[in-house]
Amino acid sequence: MNKKYRKALIAGNWKMNMLPSEVKPFVDALKLELPKQKSCDVAICAPFVVMPALMKATGGSRIGLGAQDVSAHDKGAYTGEVSVSQLKDIGTKYVIIGHSERRQYHGESDELVNAKALKVLEAGMTPIICVGESLDQRERGLTLAHIEYQVKAALYGMSEEMIRRCVIAYEPIWAIGTGKTATAEQAEEICGHVRAVIRKISTARTARSTTILYGGSMNAGNAAELLSKDDIDGGLIGGASLKSADFAKIIAATAQ
Ligand code: 13P
Repeated sequence: MNKKYRKALIAGNWKMNMLPSEVKPFVDALKLELPKQKSCDVAICAPFVVMPALMKATGGSRIGLGAQDVSAHDKGAYTGEVSVSQLKDIGTKYVIIGHSERRQYHGESDELVNAKALKVLEAGMTPIICVGESLDQRERGLTLAHIEYQVKAALYGMSEEMIRRCVIAYEPIWAIGTGKTATAEQAEEICGHVRAVIRKISTARTARSTTILYGGSMNAGNAAELLSKDDIDGGLIGGASLKSADFAKIIAATAQ
């Protein structure tokens, strides 16, 4: 992390876990375990139906409300979709966009990721835009080119100010939910590459101030090493964000 230029962020991605009725006990425990020192921003991205309970339970705390997806449409006849204004209305601050599970299981394209990110920014919220290569792409030496394409496509048409308000999460698909974390060196190489791509399409100042996260089997044991790297400004945490003590330890690791 380089706290001189950027804000650190630890964001939980609960994916399709946690019942509304389970939220309060979880958050009450997490609040007790959170470090007193505020060395990073904290967010939890919950399923839509769980978000009101999370909002209620986290009220007045430092935990920001996040969603895991949003519609690219403003309103109207889009059954099953949720709009940015609906998210904004309940106090949402962060929206994950283009998670590999959405790209893979719901066919989300780079163009759709870009359209959603623009909507989130217009509404004054923070998109957490996910990029990452598959194992096959890594083995074929395509990682850098793939990441460059994803970053450029996601940030297409954005001003410097808009890019600076984005968070980019580098999540290698082979490290998600597998227990197989990228080494700190691998993660740093690609997070640095993301920053270099931003420098290329925008300015050095924008690249320096954009928050870039690592995600993929990050946990209480490996967080400190990953976060010690200059270009890794925080984490997007799946499994370990479902255990309050582990999530709190990852948050505490940003104090180094
Ligand atoms: P895990 O931490 O469970 O590997 O998930 C990472 C992730 O996909 C966060 O968005």
